[in-house]
Amino acid sequence: MRRLLALAAAFFVADLVTAQAPPPEPNGNAAAAARQCNICHGKQEFKTVRPDGSVRPLFVDEAAIRDSVHGKWQCTDCHADVDKIPHPAPLAQVNCQRCHFGGNPVGAPERINYEGYVKSVHGRLRLAGNTKAPLCQDCHGTHGIRKHTDPTSRVNKAQVPSTCGRCHVEIYADYQRSTHGQSLLTKGNLDAPSCTDCHGEHSILAPKETASDVSATNIPETCSHCHGSMAFNTKYEIPINPVKTFKHTFHGIANELGSKKVAQCASCHTAHAVLPAADPQSSVNPANIPATCGKSGCHEGANANYARGRFHIDPTNRDSGIIYWVALFFKILTISTLAALLVHILLDLVKKLRHGHAGGHHGE
Ligand code: HEC
Ligand code: HEC
Ligand code: HEC
Ligand code: HEC
Ligand code: HEC
Ligand code: HEC
Ligand code: HEC
Ligand code: HEC
Repeated sequence: MRRLLALAAAFFVADLVTAQAPPPEPNGNAAAAARQCNICHGKQEFKTVRPDGSVRPLFVDEAAIRDSVHGKWQCTDCHADVDKIPHPAPLAQVNCQRCHFGGNPVGAPERINYEGYVKSVHGRLRLAGNTKAPLCQDCHGTHGIRKHTDPTSRVNKAQVPSTCGRCHVEIYADYQRSTHGQSLLTKGNLDAPSCTDCHGEHSILAPKETASDVSATNIPETCSHCHGSMAFNTKYEIPINPVKTFKHTFHGIANELGSKKVAQCASCHTAHAVLPAADPQSSVNPANIPATCGKSGCHEGANANYARGRFHIDPTNRDSGIIYWVALFFKILTISTLAALLVHILLDLVKKLRHGHAGGHHGE
């Protein structure tokens, strides 16, 4: 029985990934074909009233479709199940993957990770019947789909947060208040991350999955795409390389060795409410550090001492004060100890060789 289910599931996946029917050929006569539909759907006031009394508008602006990336396609190329008029309701949801799959013959872009969507947290939930998880059209829109480079596209960098935020409401609210959100949405700074810079777009996985861009052990790498370069940090008056300095700490070393429990960037800075340390709302503002470090499972009972001194310290930088000098002292101490040891070994060797040479005749 389980096998049968797995087989059925595999078939369903294959069906979504590849085309369910051969993709259509554009016949260049989309306008004429749409006229059939426009008899009803071309009227501004065309709508139905649902049993619960709510109104469902059914007007379709054909000009928006002609203006979109799908301008040359007919209504029925997407609404493939409308084969007679009047057509029965309800219709199936549009399956974008009729045309959008690797090796498609109709010219839909190939460089997209369509498979990634099927395996993503969204794709898997959708396949399992969760209608709250997004299909392609929930992120891209329906009749007015545009390239991501178009500022009005729902997947344009500056639009992505509101596109995801329609469902992830609380996270969107945190993000909007954060340095990252303010920078992108208010200042229009395209250097700042939108949701997809940290999560990917089609292959989004839950943080608990190791392969996720935001799993505990991948977070430093994800932040380092931007903060890993000192030139980048300097541009935003961030005085340290937070990634390099993190890697010197106990937390950083344990994280690199695969510890999921030890603090990483988001444990201290949060994932979505990232703010400069000077901001009183910031999780790393000195006033909030005891609470941040004292989170359950971390340093319970953390007190104000935790807020003393700095966290990101580069021991190779003179500006780090006492830490720099202590590090330098230990560096010199280590080198001189090693040098003395080496000299000692050499002298010892010379002595042993001399002895060996002198006693050589007595052996066998
Ligand atoms: C005779 C009028 C008429 C024509 C012509 C017509 N439709 Fe419809 N269409 C309707 C009505 C009425 C509904 C609402 C059905 C409902 O909600 O019960 C509808 C709903 C829809 C829906 C919404 C899907 C759903 O399940 O609610 C789609 C998509 C659609 N039509 C596509 C088309 C396409 C494509 C054409 C042209 C090939 C077309 N229609 C031609 C009357 C028409
Ligand atoms: C690129 C594919 C595509 C094309 C081309 C297309 N549609 Fe749609 N249409 C969609 C999607 C996606 C939805 C959202 C519902 C869904 O997911 O199935 C939708 C929804 C609708 C609805 C439901 C009301 C609404 O606006 O949500 C109607 C009616 C409709 N389409 C009619 C048409 C007509 C008429 C044409 C041609 C003039 C057309 N569509 C062309 C993809 C398409
Ligand atoms: C009938 C085939 C077909 C269907 C169905 C279809 N598309 Fe497309 N789509 C194409 C083709 C072909 C292109 C390339 C258009 C061009 O470059 O002129 C395209 C382009 C796009 C682009 C722009 C990509 C780029 O870089 O140019 C997006 C985004 C897109 N489609 C999303 C969708 C979504 C979302 C759906 C489902 C609602 C969908 N498509 C349904 C054929 C289709
Ligand atoms: C969770 C939201 C989301 C879902 C679901 C999603 N996409 Fe996307 N998609 C995006 C984002 C964001 C981008 C923009 C990537 C970028 O900036 O280059 C994108 C880019 C694209 C592009 C290239 C567009 C361009 O202008 O270059 C195509 C084509 C595309 N997606 C098709 C699909 C198809 C087909 C599906 C369903 C199998 C799908 N997407 C599901 C968010 C989504
Ligand atoms: C149509 C609604 C919808 C849209 C749009 C949407 N998501 Fe989701 N997303 C969901 C649902 C539902 C879940 C599963 C329930 C949950 O964990 O929140 C989910 C799960 C997730 C998860 C995994 C959460 C976990 O802990 O398991 C991440 C990460 C995620 N979405 C990110 C995004 C990003 C980034 C975007 C935009 C590119 C986006 N989502 C767009 C509905 C949506
Ligand atoms: C600077 C990088 C970054 C940006 C930008 C970002 N996220 Fe996240 N997101 C993360 C990290 C890191 C985690 C994992 C948090 C953890 O494990 O504590 C996460 C977790 C999540 C989760 C699942 C866990 C939860 O808290 O429910 C969802 C859903 C999510 N993000 C959605 C979004 C959405 C939507 C946006 C845009 C409005 C966004 N993220 C922007 C880094 C980011
Ligand atoms: C796509 C690039 C990008 C990614 C990825 C990114 N950031 Fe940022 N970050 C920025 C930019 C740009 C700023 C400065 C915004 C401004 O001041 O306008 C910033 C600012 C900050 C600040 C505030 C610094 C200050 O003093 O203003 C912190 C803290 C921060 N980021 C932490 C993180 C963490 C933690 C991650 C990973 C979870 C991360 N960032 C991922 C681009 C990025
Ligand atoms: C153990 C907690 C902790 C961890 C882990 C951590 N940080 Fe920080 N971070 C801080 C504190 C506290 C500050 C305030 C300045 C300081 O103490 O050096 C800070 C400052 C920053 C700043 C400058 C912001 C400002 O306003 O001064 C950036 C950017 C930053 N961290 C990014 C990161 C990144 C990226 C990572 C992961 C590679 C990371 N942090 C890991 C606690 C942490």
